[in-house]
Amino acid sequence: MDWGMENRLARIIKPDSNRTVMLAADHGYFLGPISKLQVPRTTLEPLIPYADALMITRGVARTSVDPATAPALVLRVSGAVSILKEDISHETITTSMKEAVRLNASAVALSIFVGTDNEHESLANLGHLVNEAQEVGMPVLAVTAVGRELEKRDARYLSLACRIAAELGAQFVKTYYCDEFEKVVESCPVPLVIAGGPKLETARDALDLAYDAIQKGAAGVDMGRNVWQSAAPVAMIQALRAIVHEGASADRANELLEKSTPVLAGAR
Ligand code: 5RP
Repeated sequence: MDWGMENRLARIIKPDSNRTVMLAADHGYFLGPISKLQVPRTTLEPLIPYADALMITRGVARTSVDPATAPALVLRVSGAVSILKEDISHETITTSMKEAVRLNASAVALSIFVGTDNEHESLANLGHLVNEAQEVGMPVLAVTAVGRELEKRDARYLSLACRIAAELGAQFVKTYYCDEFEKVVESCPVPLVIAGGPKLETARDALDLAYDAIQKGAAGVDMGRNVWQSAAPVAMIQALRAIVHEGASADRANELLEKSTPVLAGAR
């Protein structure tokens, strides 16, 4: 790996643990002002000190994040569709590599939609992005998005999507946790980070998800809603850090969460 590429990636996936806690807050690029992310600066400021990397768009970076204190930036560069459309997989590359360099991004991220009508388009976007990114030493994060078809999140489908992303040159892949997740990890030659997905019933469910993913070989989490839509976002990201970087069990992380916010014990 070239020096610049390795240096950028090391800002995200910490070399001492080979793991990362990424905070995803790019949702507005197709969902608009979703719950608890209506004012990005207000949501993000207290969480930033605990995130190894922040996954956002250029619009949120420039308007809502202080460049002096920002962690590594994973810049969302795909989009151009909204939740109002039946087919949300019709994305293109919206942000140039020059912009990513100007913003001092540590990686660029785009979604791929394997198995949808826009499969070819999104995979071609990935190939094109990797070509451009290689020229400037920029890591690419491919996100194995499933559009509206959530039932697709099984090991067979995710192994296919993650492997294709790696074969096309992504340096790391964001995907979903699933039963037999170890099979997805095994067949993907680059690191995997997991999304949290829609907010789970309890904070404990999200901690279990993170713990199980790490046990089965994930390089970390790239969670959004299960952090900033939780009742105690700061305690939640700290608990995730304990699992990802300190080897804490889900029980231990949950204890830490409840200790720092006793009112939360048993709450959502
Ligand atoms: C959408 C994304 C989002 O960043 C990601 O899914 C958000 O994380 P979470 O699901 O944990 O809210 O990549 O395609």
